Amino acid sequence: MTVYNLGSINADHVYAVPHLPVAGETLAATALQRELGGKGANQSVAMAQAGANVVHMGAIGADGAWATERLQQLGVDCSAVATVATPTGHAIVCVDPGGENQIVLFPGANRALPDQVLAPLQHCGAGDWLVLQNETNLQCKAAQIARQRGARVAYSAAPFTVEAVQNMLGLCDMIIMNAGEAAQLSRALGCDMGQLPVPVVVVTRGAEGADWHDTRNAQQISVPAHKVQPIDTTGAGDTFAGFLIAALHAGASATAALQLASAAAALKVTRPGTADAIPSMAQVQAFMA
Ligand code: RIB
Repeated sequence: MTVYNLGSINADHVYAVPHLPVAGETLAATALQRELGGKGANQSVAMAQAGANVVHMGAIGADGAWATERLQQLGVDCSAVATVATPTGHAIVCVDPGGENQIVLFPGANRALPDQVLAPLQHCGAGDWLVLQNETNLQCKAAQIARQRGARVAYSAAPFTVEAVQNMLGLCDMIIMNAGEAAQLSRALGCDMGQLPVPVVVVTRGAEGADWHDTRNAQQISVPAHKVQPIDTTGAGDTFAGFLIAALHAGASATAALQLASAAAALKVTRPGTADAIPSMAQVQAFMA
């Protein structure tokens, strides 16, 4: 069984800053790290680290071969990643001493995906998952193909816009949002998370844990967050989503999957960086123990 991930691939330029910049400010960084990132790539890495068989569907520009090489080294199948005439996406990530971040994205190749990147979905079926975020094009088309073939669709609604979520509501089996995104959606649609037309809604609440709403039977499961000293919160949501989906894919219960995802995200925030800082399953299990 396979997890297919239609996801962004970015070069992350991560600047350590004394505080997050404000309008009109010129701010000197104290350190710079360049590495693999992108919500899609981070989630693929997290799912592979959690033991899933992951096929990444996305695109890079002519400048991005290093990114797919790194993804492959981290256990992700990149045979369906296209090279397009648009430069590889990148992100300017500022991280303050408390681990909080601010991100500016250049979508680049991530929003220029040709239909051919969806070719692997011809092999998907019951027992497989399709994973989507908002940093690419083709999400609705991919979800339609996957559902027609009997696969389940998990949608991580970031970067968040109400319009993007509305387009996906009838097309996914699980939606994952943070508390701020859930509040915005709730205001826009005039309903609670337990009333969305999606079977499962997962809301992450940072230091306050995470909630699982099963809208089919009005059940809610909540898990607390682990208390850690944050160094860098970048990619924590991606780590949570990746471990959650991989655990469900492997047959874990909702509670067990939430607990694993919560521990993986907690461990991630104690480490600087994005894709390279995502922990392995062994590290997460040791942390939980
Ligand atoms: O979620 C973190 C990610 O958001 C970063 O890796 C950056 O590339 C942006 O996509």
